[in-house]
Amino acid sequence: NPIKAPSLVPGCKNSDWNLDFESGIRTGACCPPFAKELEIDYKFPTTGETRIRQPIHRASPEYIEKFKVAMQKMKALPDDDPCSFKNQAKVHCAYCNGNYTQMASGYPEKILQVHYSWLFFPFHRWFLYFFERILGDLIEDKTFGLPYWNWDNPAGMEIPAVFEEGGKSNPLYNSYRNVNHLRPAIVDLDYQMEERNMSPLDQIRINMCNMNRRMMRNASDAKSFFGGEYVAGNNPTPREDSSIGSIEAGCHTAVHRWVGDPRTPNHEDLGNFYSAAYDPLFYIHHSNVDRMWTLWKGFGGEGRIEPNDKNWEEASYVFYDENRKPVRVYNKHCVNLEDLKYEYEDSETPWKSNPP
Ligand code: C2O
Repeated sequence: NPIKAPSLVPGCKNSDWNLDFESGIRTGACCPPFAKELEIDYKFPTTGETRIRQPIHRASPEYIEKFKVAMQKMKALPDDDPCSFKNQAKVHCAYCNGNYTQMASGYPEKILQVHYSWLFFPFHRWFLYFFERILGDLIEDKTFGLPYWNWDNPAGMEIPAVFEEGGKSNPLYNSYRNVNHLRPAIVDLDYQMEERNMSPLDQIRINMCNMNRRMMRNASDAKSFFGGEYVAGNNPTPREDSSIGSIEAGCHTAVHRWVGDPRTPNHEDLGNFYSAAYDPLFYIHHSNVDRMWTLWKGFGGEGRIEPNDKNWEEASYVFYDENRKPVRVYNKHCVNLEDLKYEYEDSETPWKSNPP
């Protein structure tokens, strides 16, 4: 049977999650505010324009300003508002640090985990979908699209300047980042917690090879790209019979680790799942991760298609939408961007023809 996230209140446990990192600088109590009503199956709004997601290094100052205002407003929402920035950050934590169980699929003693398996891409797509819509609502701009951190392109391989400048008064700024990796450092898309001290040109070249491997050479079918199956009753991975998708295991995790702050006890914020979504960078990082799904599929050919399996299609999660309504969403409904009404503005993919 497919994984089915529990309804918003009963399935979430704030108290007894496994605190491996007691000294965390963020809370491990990640349950969302109580829902006053049961969730309903999400219906796509019938109105609204397509939102364009653009690479942040090409975004205009006006666009960045809009983004900042929206983030500022989200951060100013009260703690009992499910759309507040804090509560959005907790959504991610709840789905990956043991706050939810598989009780709704009949296994109350098993933890629900959205990483390390084929749930990775669809869960994060839905999470960003609502995050983007909340931001747009806050600035009354229903065309607002979340930018993406274009780390697969040489022009986008640094932490975007607009996330660093201005200190605490900048809603995109976060003090918990590795200070050795601020600009002009070039991201290491294969970062294993060790500095490789390459010249920028070498690092870029290696990143290109890495992208080619993760997107082309080692990603010719659904399993290698999305990750292995994860169904009701499974233990959260790593299990012996499980496998992590090529992007999740590769550049996705490398960027998390590369940004996380080594001065904090658990590499907060980006370097640890429970705290990752407290850094605004998380959202533009995942916007690019999500773009990889679209690119990968768009390259076409046999095998470049979502898992053809009921247990993948019917897996579901519960979120609050931008109207604070609890809704249930399914993997099968997040496959077409036309339904989700957003698009990625093109950026070159030089790694496509850059075999290692
Ligand atoms: Cu849910 Cu990048 O992790």
